[in-house]
Amino acid sequence: RLRAIIDCDPGVDDAIALMVASSPDSEFELIGVTAVAGNLPLQDTFRNARALMAFLGRPDLPVLAGADRPMTREPVPAIHHIHGANGLGGYELEMPIASTPTKTAIEYIIEACSQGPVTLCPIGPLTTIAQLLAKAPEVIPAIDRIVLMGGAAFVPGNVTQTAEFNIWADPHAAAVIFNAPIEKVMIGLDVTLQVGAEPSWIETLANPGHRTALAAAAMLRGYNSGSMALHDPCVPVFLDRPDLFDGQRCRVSVGTEDGSDGYGQTFATPDPSGDTIVLNKVDADGVRAHVAEAIFSLGD
Ligand code: BDR
Ligand code: CA
Repeated sequence: RLRAIIDCDPGVDDAIALMVASSPDSEFELIGVTAVAGNLPLQDTFRNARALMAFLGRPDLPVLAGADRPMTREPVPAIHHIHGANGLGGYELEMPIASTPTKTAIEYIIEACSQGPVTLCPIGPLTTIAQLLAKAPEVIPAIDRIVLMGGAAFVPGNVTQTAEFNIWADPHAAAVIFNAPIEKVMIGLDVTLQVGAEPSWIETLANPGHRTALAAAAMLRGYNSGSMALHDPCVPVFLDRPDLFDGQRCRVSVGTEDGSDGYGQTFATPDPSGDTIVLNKVDADGVRAHVAEAIFSLGD
């Protein structure tokens, strides 16, 4: 089973992704979680990530804090209007007892890479992962793949006409990732906007006898993205069920010129020798069914 690290900024859809990745039936092993500033400042995403893993019955899983601000650009404001005041759609989780982290996200990932191949799964801005590659390029051979949620290759953006949030929030970091000699799978708006969480589907999760599913339903009711897309859960679903997706091998570059139309845009050029598979087709019903099944497989 491949060893996966999820780098996240919870975030309602991040929270659902962590649930899916915690399923005992999953095809991969979630070995750790790192938090990055994005949807909310780092202290909030880190707190939410720790609280979620404790809630999911994994209080022992390593959860480490990564970058608290983008590499070059100004930090972006928290998007409470989409993810709620606490980032989890207003759903309150009991906070774990604060303990002093023993290491940083970067130190943790370096250590994990020294113990065997790792699949990195960023579902927030790419700052921490870019800083990791800059600081410790020797880890590159141990990264078997980066499977990321971010970008918009052949569809419009969701923050600007051209840019998707995770890339726009730190385009310089995204450029480092797309330039790195590592195999990548880009799960951008091209596919995630096709996977909406319709109200009727959310209500199928609201099973009073299942605390995890109930929490998922409550968080999703407080999720206020216009599209209601299950962006981030597509990453763990892809690891479990790549057959639900299809894509095209491309070369991808990122617009980093502040003020330009393409700032934060992912420019994808189909190229059989490119190092990024840009997903563009998805069986949305299959993804929703897998998300629900994974959530119901978790302890109630
Ligand atoms: C991405 O932006 C965030 O708000 C979501 O958590 C997701 O990672 C979608 O553009
Ligand atoms: Ca996210």
